[in-house]
Amino acid sequence: MAITWNSELELGIPVIDSQHRRIVEYINAVYHARNTHSLEEIVEVLDELVDYTLSHFAFEENLMEEAGYPFLNAHKKVHRLFARRVGSFQQRVKTGEDITEELLHVLKAWLINHIKCDDRDYSEVVRANMVEATRRTKAKKGSWFNRLFG
Ligand SMILES: [Fe+2]
Ligand SMILES: [Fe+2]
Repeated sequence: MAITWNSELELGIPVIDSQHRRIVEYINAVYHARNTHSLEEIVEVLDELVDYTLSHFAFEENLMEEAGYPFLNAHKKVHRLFARRVGSFQQRVKTGEDITEELLHVLKAWLINHIKCDDRDYSEVVRANMVEATRRTKAKKGSWFNRLFG
């Protein structure tokens, strides 16, 4: 069954939430491809999903690093493990093997749980850091403004 976006998946960080929504859309596109029994479509969607997810991981890792999230290394390892797993799916499907059911299982059980648990774990630290960075930028602008016009 396709995934419906819900509040359990929401971290309250708009930029991350919209990336996660996009990942869910890709997973749903895999469901769609399964229903049309098109191996070609699976290959295409899987490539796009992997591309997008890997750049999302890099983005997320940057935010965690900037925020000084203490479990960054463990989180990175989990990302790498997932990358390896989907990489092997990409290879297998290109040899004509039907990996659709297995792939959907991994995407749903693994990626969705990752968002709900591991990603949720960093959300507070990252959100606080983003709020602080915005405050600092505003303060800087304020002092510049004050020097000129104060
Ligand atoms: Fe994520
Ligand atoms: Fe993550």
